[in-house]
Amino acid sequence: MSILRTEEISKQYPGCLALDQVSVSFESGKVNALLGKNGSGKSTLVKCFSGAIQPTNGAFYLDDEKLSFHSPSEANAKGFATVYQEMSLVPSLTVTENIFLGKMPRKGRFVDWKKAHKMAGEMLASMGVKINPKEIVSRLPMWQCQVVEITKAMSLHPKVLMLDEPTSSLASSEVESLFKVIRELKKQDIIIIYISHKLHEIPEITDTITVLRDGKFVGAVNTKEVKHQDIISMMFGEVSIRQRPKELKVQEGTVLEVKDLCRKDKFENVSFSLRKGEVLGIAGMLGAGRTELLKSIFGADPYDSGEVWVNGQKAPRHASPITMKKLGMGLTPEDRKNEGLILIHSIQDNLCYASMEKTARGWFEDRTMRNRAAEDQIRDLQIKIPDKAAPVSSLSGGNQQKVVVGNWLNTNPMIMLYDEPSRGIDVNAKQQIFEIMWKQAAKGISTIFVSSELEELLEVCHRILIMKDGRITGEVNPDDININELYAYSMGDTDE
Ligand SMILES: Nc1ncnc2c1ncn2[C@@H]1O[C@H](COP(=O)(O)OP(=O)(O)OP(=O)(O)O)[C@@H](O)[C@H]1O
Ligand SMILES: [Mg+2]
Repeated sequence: MSILRTEEISKQYPGCLALDQVSVSFESGKVNALLGKNGSGKSTLVKCFSGAIQPTNGAFYLDDEKLSFHSPSEANAKGFATVYQEMSLVPSLTVTENIFLGKMPRKGRFVDWKKAHKMAGEMLASMGVKINPKEIVSRLPMWQCQVVEITKAMSLHPKVLMLDEPTSSLASSEVESLFKVIRELKKQDIIIIYISHKLHEIPEITDTITVLRDGKFVGAVNTKEVKHQDIISMMFGEVSIRQRPKELKVQEGTVLEVKDLCRKDKFENVSFSLRKGEVLGIAGMLGAGRTELLKSIFGADPYDSGEVWVNGQKAPRHASPITMKKLGMGLTPEDRKNEGLILIHSIQDNLCYASMEKTARGWFEDRTMRNRAAEDQIRDLQIKIPDKAAPVSSLSGGNQQKVVVGNWLNTNPMIMLYDEPSRGIDVNAKQQIFEIMWKQAAKGISTIFVSSELEELLEVCHRILIMKDGRITGEVNPDDININELYAYSMGDTDE
């Protein structure tokens, strides 16, 4: 058995003590959950182990050998492999090249491509997914990128495997494949550290739980010995989970009508309407075409035929997002790093890009108004920031997600499209976003909510559409269906 332990590790960032004298230990042959709300220091701790950053104080030991890494490759060489929360693949390279980056199999002086693709193909197959190893990574959907990341980490045959929210873009069937792989690794006596905000995964896959809060160690327990509520209390203190207020009724009037919308190979004959103040969910498996549909409705992608009507007005055939924004629509994209944020720009700027016209005064901008808009979102969404002017890249993953949402809320949309808005955010922050949806609904603002967490859709929506293979295959009332039925329905089991 081996043990990875830290001794009073601290990490000071400018304006933020991300880890505060943390002493924890993780055993091999176990899956060790590392939990805590957004910004509690989980990724920071993992980055210390992975050589991405160095702790300011303190040390860590693998089987009593004191280690300190100055680069990720030093960590790799010692058997530390990481799947980072934010994708770290090279988009322009193939899947195979990404998996074997810097260590491609060779035949003499040359890369042995045939062998490389074959090995990559076999490793991917062991994850239970079909991905072409020769495909360029930028052409893959998010969830396949995540599978490639995990495969890449495995290819190092690690002693310590750190998974920072590995399932955030996966749906249940892929999660199951990943869990199978993790259970295999557990038998090989590897130290596995597992970070996730999907708390229902914790009893299923982990053996121990370590909780951080605001950079401090809160406690460590055996997974079997705690109840769900205990974990939540360790993470947050108190948190109240609210249900959708029953008095929240959909109002009269249709705000959006989608008629026979088609895009080749993406979706087909999609028709539905959205009413004033309605929260409409779209359930479906990964690759069902939900992201593509939202993007086409919003003008970010084209469509081949069909019509989109907003407030009784037909949207132009090749409308751009700018046009759709003027019609009162907003979209928070699934891929925050590439589509939602400009990482090196400040938190404040990122909160105001979508609403730029509103604060513009001719050539100038109304700074007071802009600052106020940013401050409102920081307060309402409880975004944890050191300073408004700090780059958005310095925020924890979940807090970045809140900035994406806040940016669009600042446009005061009449129709909000959310594509997986709760990815990577903690239970409490999810609740805040749901409450915002309800508050807006009460004001007559309509919402379309795409989520792979079907529980969330049941909790939040007035009505849920089921999408499968690019088609709307059904519609359900959340009050009449339970979670197992909704899962079965989304997978198409009851699809006559
Ligand atoms: N490069 C940086 N510069 C300044 N502060 C940083 C930097 N990276 C992280 N932080 C801060 O350190 C704290 C801990 O961040 P960390 O990413 O470890 O949180 P986390 O627990 O992984 O949260 P999440 O669940 O949202 O991913 C946060 O307050 C964050 O803003
Ligand atoms: Mg994190």
